[in-house]
Amino acid sequence: MSGLSSIGNLLLLGQGADLSSERGVSCTGELPHASDPDLVKRAQEARAKLGNKAMILGHHYQRDEVIQFADITGDSFKLAQAAAERGDAEFVFFCGVHFMAESADILTGPTQRVILPDLAAGCSMADMAAANQVNDAWRVMQELGISTKTIPVTYMNSTAAIKSFTGEYGGTICTSSNAERAMRWAFEKGEKVFFLPDQHLGRNTAVLKLGLKLEDCVLWNPWKPRGGLTDQEIKSARVILWRGHCSVHGRFSIENVNEIRDRIAGVKVLVHPECQHEVVRAADVVGSTEMIIKTVKESPSGSSWAVGTELNLVKRLAASNPDKKVYFLDKTVCYCSTMNRIDLPHLVWALESVANGKVVNEIKVEAKIAHHARVALERMLALP
Ligand code: 13P
Ligand code: SF4
Repeated sequence: MSGLSSIGNLLLLGQGADLSSERGVSCTGELPHASDPDLVKRAQEARAKLGNKAMILGHHYQRDEVIQFADITGDSFKLAQAAAERGDAEFVFFCGVHFMAESADILTGPTQRVILPDLAAGCSMADMAAANQVNDAWRVMQELGISTKTIPVTYMNSTAAIKSFTGEYGGTICTSSNAERAMRWAFEKGEKVFFLPDQHLGRNTAVLKLGLKLEDCVLWNPWKPRGGLTDQEIKSARVILWRGHCSVHGRFSIENVNEIRDRIAGVKVLVHPECQHEVVRAADVVGSTEMIIKTVKESPSGSSWAVGTELNLVKRLAASNPDKKVYFLDKTVCYCSTMNRIDLPHLVWALESVANGKVVNEIKVEAKIAHHARVALERMLALP
């Protein structure tokens, strides 16, 4: 057999003989289906009871069973904008991960309440930069006399504490949609950029968008004294990259790209900029989540795409573009397990609790942290 399997219109490359069923795409632990009619009905009833007081935001990586209830779907940038703009919604149900809900809390008004249906929905990348580690790195830069000409640029996928550090020291937040603009802005203000926590987005933006050389970037390892770098390396770098990565996108490899091109004639490779540099360099198109959706949607009928991003989104892309062939770039890469924490039972529980007068799982960022973090987020929203 060819080693190709499919779910609906999503085609997956497999190696073995038994790939014609869902087994070909399963992660460890099957995901439950949103097939319980009572759960759907309960969610609808609780949602109706809350009316205009509630807004449900859904990130594109969320499960179908959750995304069907989202008032607004989007990538992290679009959802941050939506949270900032809908001042009338008293309860913002954030179906995404913790750092996104924190940003929504920071950007919404004092009377608005942000709810994360499952508090275990974190992000492994955000966890790779702890505030004490970032402060230690900055102290080294201060000691070397380079902090005044170094501008922090922090990816949205970071804790509020790191965003606060960024705002306090003159930097901005970015997302995968505006990382280039953010880095250009930073280089207008200073000579160096301290990019955290995603090394891949930082490197891909610096090298492939701004035209810097790979040698202009150094990697700060928070687990080594002074980042594992010599003072000279730190002083001469143009970009100091934090050693963090996404545990989903970081797994796509150049072998996946070569293999799919060998197998599928004419396939175009489309990846998120959180992928490794060599993958992004080899891809035909690189873009944020919103851009990935737009690229497939606007491509000619009959075109083939191998997409390197989160699996919930790739499956939806396949389903909503039946006239195209959509492949998942690597069958061994899983759903984002933390995004998947938000499921219909958690959403129902959160909606019903609030509808019955009990606010659960509220995300509230401490005022002192929120202050500087807001400065950094507002700088991002004001980027040209
Ligand atoms: P976007 O900025 O594209 O929404 O990405 C968020 C994310 O978590 C990517 O892994
Ligand atoms: Fe974090 Fe990666 Fe999941 Fe995005 S996909 S939430 S960066 S672990």
